[in-house]
Amino acid sequence: MSLPLDLKQAAQQVAQNAYVPYSDFPVGVALRSADGRVFSGCNVENRSYPLGMCGERNAIGAAAAAGVRPGDITELVVYMPGDKLFSPCGGCRQAIAEFMPADGRVWACNDSERLKAWTAAELLPDGFSFDGF
Ligand code: THU
Repeated sequence: MSLPLDLKQAAQQVAQNAYVPYSDFPVGVALRSADGRVFSGCNVENRSYPLGMCGERNAIGAAAAAGVRPGDITELVVYMPGDKLFSPCGGCRQAIAEFMPADGRVWACNDSERLKAWTAAELLPDGFSFDGF
């Protein structure tokens, strides 16, 4: 599967609204729900540092607020300006595991051609679940 360019474009756009006075590390995220809708989010930091929120969880929160339910997110693109690639943090991996199916696709991209792609299950093997093992 190749990078969904519409999601990359949406992620680049929303990264411009990232509020990152403390890290100077803007992140933009765009995702698609199973019914074809696109949602986006960026990181929003806080002067009380631990209260800052990642782009992934803000995008998933926007989708959830519009009615998207667990398992309903099919694709998610994380964009960071520049030429390094980063992967979602541990907390965001748990949120991704909740809202994407195990085979849902996650991409990291930047301003270069380099890409990294995972399934949701690859990002969080053996993640926490009430079902247990
Ligand atoms: N950040 C994200 O938005 N997503 C991640 O997966 C990793 C980190 C943000 C949090 C903080 O605003 C900045 O990047 C530096 O950690």
